[in-house]
Amino acid sequence: MLQTRQGGPGFLGMATQVSAWELIEETYAAQEGQRPGILIIDPQAISRHVIRGMLHQRGYRLLEASTVAEAREALERDGVDLVIADLALPETSGLDFCRQIKADRRTYLIPVVLITSVQGASMHVAGLEAGADEFLVRPLNTSVVRTRVAALLRHKADVDSLEEAEPILFVLAQAIEQRDEAISGHCKRLDQITRALGTALNLSRAQLLALHRGAYLHDIGKVGVPDSILFKPGPLSPQEWDIMRQHPITGEAICRPVKSLALVLPIIRSHHERWNGTGYPDGLAGEDIPLLARILQIADIYDALTSPRPYKRAVPGPRALEILAQEAQRGWREPRLVGAFREVWETTLWPAQLTALAHVQPAAATSAPPDIVPVTVLK
Ligand SMILES: [Fe+2]
Repeated sequence: MLQTRQGGPGFLGMATQVSAWELIEETYAAQEGQRPGILIIDPQAISRHVIRGMLHQRGYRLLEASTVAEAREALERDGVDLVIADLALPETSGLDFCRQIKADRRTYLIPVVLITSVQGASMHVAGLEAGADEFLVRPLNTSVVRTRVAALLRHKADVDSLEEAEPILFVLAQAIEQRDEAISGHCKRLDQITRALGTALNLSRAQLLALHRGAYLHDIGKVGVPDSILFKPGPLSPQEWDIMRQHPITGEAICRPVKSLALVLPIIRSHHERWNGTGYPDGLAGEDIPLLARILQIADIYDALTSPRPYKRAVPGPRALEILAQEAQRGWREPRLVGAFREVWETTLWPAQLTALAHVQPAAATSAPPDIVPVTVLK
């Protein structure tokens, strides 16, 4: 497998041919001491030896297992990047073992190559249906094995680098939150509120995970908003609003390259839309606003209302609920969702909040609302 790359040795800017293996070497070379680990699983020592012979010149960490139990230990312990397994394993079939790898959250991204001596399309299809990334039939061709292994490792390295980007974005999001002392703990509280509401709405695990991530990442685009606007205590000018309204778009652009955040992008993009279409940045209305964005928005407003800001006191929970109901009457929020939030608030959130306040600041739960409450507290 050859790929074209600009700027090879010899002639500045001239395209050169680079093998998949060379790209893999570059990727892993950046990770000190981390050569790609390949686990060869076969009960026959001679078969493991043959594959080892095909790959040893490449500098991989070649690991061997003769049983599924040994293979599981290696997967737990040795940082495996690719599995090559014979279909005929002693304890279980290679197909079942492949299914187990692909069903485990810790190993499902590891490419699996299945090898068999049995010819026939039906076996090939069964292997791919079990989740195998490649299916090879003996006698093995050395060039084919090397090329397929290099291509699969390259893909694994790409996936790994994308997965690594997600924690970096979380750190960035928390740094943005810490920029503003007034919203300290906001994301963590949003996480708790959206989880309670999402669970009550019987959302899937994937949707709940997206809400968890959205709680921390929804305002990441504020990295592009100047402090003079972000921390301005008074109303924003029309020009300043134009800049503030860009933060959902900026946030979506920051997170878009990370594939694992695909379900989070609509939350980031649409968390300032309004049910009647008067929100931003796209003026979406009704159910055109993604459900997860609507859920996060309700939690965002509730927490903003019940938290102190430099320009306002914290509003007690019952008063915040009244304001949310008023916003639903104005057409800004989805009435059904506000109703669902009220139920969750009454049964779960408010009792927990009262308990917490009883330990920290007993008066806050019953303090009178301020004379003037902003109609909306979110920028
Ligand atoms: Fe926002």
